[in-house]
Amino acid sequence: MSSASAVKEDRLWQRHAEMAKLGGTPKGGVNRQALSPEDAAARNLLASWAKARGFSVSTDAIGNLFVRREGTDAQAKPVMSGSHMDSQPTGGRFDGMFGVLAAFEALEALEDAGIKTKRPLVAVAWTNEEGSRFQPGAMGSAVFAGHNKLEDMLVVKDWKGVVLRDALADTLKAAPAPMRKGKPGFAIDGYVEAHIEQGPRLENEHKTIGVVTAIQGSRRYIVEIDGEEAHAGTTPRAARKDAFAAATRIAAAMYEATADKDDTLRFTIGRVEVMPGSPNTVPGKASFTIDMRHPQDAVLEAHEKKLEQIVASRAAPCPATITRVTNVAPTDFDRTVIDLVRAKANALKLSNMDMPSGAGHDAMHIARLCPAGMIFVPCERGISHNEIENATPSDLAAGTRVLVEVLEALANR
Ligand code: GLV
Ligand code: MN
Ligand code: MN
Repeated sequence: MSSASAVKEDRLWQRHAEMAKLGGTPKGGVNRQALSPEDAAARNLLASWAKARGFSVSTDAIGNLFVRREGTDAQAKPVMSGSHMDSQPTGGRFDGMFGVLAAFEALEALEDAGIKTKRPLVAVAWTNEEGSRFQPGAMGSAVFAGHNKLEDMLVVKDWKGVVLRDALADTLKAAPAPMRKGKPGFAIDGYVEAHIEQGPRLENEHKTIGVVTAIQGSRRYIVEIDGEEAHAGTTPRAARKDAFAAATRIAAAMYEATADKDDTLRFTIGRVEVMPGSPNTVPGKASFTIDMRHPQDAVLEAHEKKLEQIVASRAAPCPATITRVTNVAPTDFDRTVIDLVRAKANALKLSNMDMPSGAGHDAMHIARLCPAGMIFVPCERGISHNEIENATPSDLAAGTRVLVEVLEALANR
């Protein structure tokens, strides 16, 4: 029996359904934000499945969760696969979770087929990929890869002021796992991440598998504006220092400056806060986030300069600052892994196409450590970061069949 033929579509689908109950929302999505009780519940469920199969479970100081199936050579560096179990506040049930469950299914399929690999295989659930509660996103993989320092991440606060160190401690108390010694990060020989595409191309082109070649670069910022609180009924316009009015001038100029002709640059203001948030007080403070992405770092760099100029020129009479929170350069995946994914998809007679990723993924950090790649499967109408996100059992199983074949090959290198 080949490893691909040991993949069980029903089991994989059932596991998605079980996980979707944790933080499940009325519209069929999930709210399972990083280091929440729902995140802890997902960790416990994955660990219970792992233990039932005789795989070992461990965690590290940033809460990444590892499930390990031994190889025949105990000294050999492992091959890793996985993604994340945290979600957006109004997230779908497949974003991230598919990559974790596909990796786990791959371990189970090899076990069921009685196939031994030379290298150990590790399924991983990275901490806080979404970055919607704690910034930056892809945090667990960034710390694992040395892109961010553990100490800097432990002091990060969420929007309510909860410190990550405390949320992490609560999570690991609720979902205990043996702690790996030392700082996060260990040597791995290869990494492959399965994910739903989160865009419409595969569906539009009637392809089952996306052979992912690259991930575009991304930068995030926070813009903070100081105004002066004043009475809404009495204060003339000339006397106002309205922080929100300044924010709207800045935002409008930014939308204009980032509207490129070929529609490649992605610019999003996704979170706005206005203080004190009272209908009859002129806002004394306003802040908003910016998420900006492009395949070329030089374009991001040039637009960063434009954003800085806009903040400097449009905020008056309110002082304003723009702070970069994250900067991840574009990622090119490893040629050998890309070719292997394509070859395995072809061998399984699955229609496929090469494509870059518009979304960010943990693979962008791990690709700096070892040969890495990704496998995409279609999602309905390309909708993601939305509770109605959907994918079919057969596409998920197809992506997992490609994944297990690729992992088996890498683990015998
Ligand atoms: C991940 O969810 C991203 O924002 O690309
Ligand atoms: Mn994701
Ligand atoms: Mn996401």
